[in-house]
Amino acid sequence: MSDLNETFAPTTGAVRLPRGAALNIALIVSGSIACYKACELISLLLKDGHPVQVIATKSALRFVGSASFEGLTDRKVFTSLWAPRESKTHISLRRWADMFIFYPATANRINQLAAGLAQDLIGATFLANNFEKPFWIAPAANTNMMLHPATQASLRTLEGWGCRIVHGDSGRLACGDTGIGRLAEPAILRGLVRQLARDTARARRTANPAVSPPRALVTGGAMTLPVDAVRSIVNTSSGRTAAAAVAALLDRGWLVSYLAHQSAATQDCEGADIVRYRTYEDFEQALGKLLAGADYDAVVHAAAVSDYFLAAGATSAKQETSSGFSLRLEPTRKLLPTVKALALAAGRRQPFVIGFKLTVHEAELDGCRRAAGYFVGGQVDRVIWNDLDGVHGDQHRFTVLAPPRPENGGDVSLEARLPQPLRRGASLAELAVAVAELAEAAVTDAAIADPTARGVGA
Ligand SMILES: Cc1cc2nc3c(=O)[nH]c(=O)nc-3n(C[C@H](O)[C@H](O)[C@H](O)COP(=O)(O)O)c2cc1C
Repeated sequence: MSDLNETFAPTTGAVRLPRGAALNIALIVSGSIACYKACELISLLLKDGHPVQVIATKSALRFVGSASFEGLTDRKVFTSLWAPRESKTHISLRRWADMFIFYPATANRINQLAAGLAQDLIGATFLANNFEKPFWIAPAANTNMMLHPATQASLRTLEGWGCRIVHGDSGRLACGDTGIGRLAEPAILRGLVRQLARDTARARRTANPAVSPPRALVTGGAMTLPVDAVRSIVNTSSGRTAAAAVAALLDRGWLVSYLAHQSAATQDCEGADIVRYRTYEDFEQALGKLLAGADYDAVVHAAAVSDYFLAAGATSAKQETSSGFSLRLEPTRKLLPTVKALALAAGRRQPFVIGFKLTVHEAELDGCRRAAGYFVGGQVDRVIWNDLDGVHGDQHRFTVLAPPRPENGGDVSLEARLPQPLRRGASLAELAVAVAELAEAAVTDAAIADPTARGVGA
């Protein structure tokens, strides 16, 4: 109980990805009217946990000051090949960066790169990299500048050498012309980086072919209780917590199965194997099938499983009565404590099981004590408590609980291995990272305990 007396200190800002999942990104910015969009892109990349180093041309700094870039990245903007104490920046940048994004790239710079000129930091860095790391170019120019044979030939040359050209949509440009040349939106680049980061994380994990990537099963979303052929009772769970956990695990290179209610969110879950369910029966059946079909290192059970079922069950007919009718609800069987047993019965390794407890209008200590009830029987490894009062959009207060320790007199214990903001966090982003970090820690512990097999059960 004393564990819970820590000051509740919500944090804001970027959540760091672990080594292996984050990409060091060198962001090159040149002098376009669309330079301001680089600030938005930087902000999105930092939010996703990727360190960003800006390299800006002199023209770019006439559109956006270095103070903005430095304020966002907390790193000095690089501008010159000849800056004092920064000799060989083009070489060190190539070593530091996992990828380069030229955003926005002016017609001038596109033509310079295609000519292979190295008279400044950007040209020298481009040649020094020599396609060792991905080099993406997002052009932004007036339609005629883009359509000029010089620019078109340069883009073809750069693409032929291995650059990835990311075009924006056609449309109205800042100069008033309509056509090609608009800069691709920051969200598009973010999505592409996210995909690359996931692929890279998986490749880093599988660099040793003897070790396959860890595998997680995440459940999430509401549950439908059919009343009759056309009516049903559904709880309000959106599945956003589960989807965020799926994304965080994918970002770390995990293979993820997502057992999701038909209405559940699947934002940023591309790459997960998504299995849909509607009712308790569907869910139970799919859960058993999934647990029998693969060895899961972790199961994150965030689905809002119905606490009750209709005693009469679903009927195929539509109930029609002018005098009303009563529904009798009876408690369903709790599924969380059955996960390990289901896996074992199917001859699979025991997964590390993370459960969720949502309370309504309960203080933290009371809520955590009720959540800790899940530990009875030893079938659950960690429980995340949250209360409806602490959940508003991306704000999401939560507390991660470990099994009770004897020195606590059997009372609730805070998870000690996570850093403070992830132990008792205040946002959905932190919650997702906390789940992924718990799963990662379980895999590491299992590998230490038994280097020949990766069973991670309690
Ligand atoms: C207001 C303004 C907006 C500009 N926007 C663009 C642009 O979007 N794309 C482009 O290729 N050039 C644009 N230019 C021209 C470039 O800034 C110019 O070619 C400059 O030399 C590019 O320098 P850099 O490539 O070293 O950054 C713009 C110029 C001005 C004055």
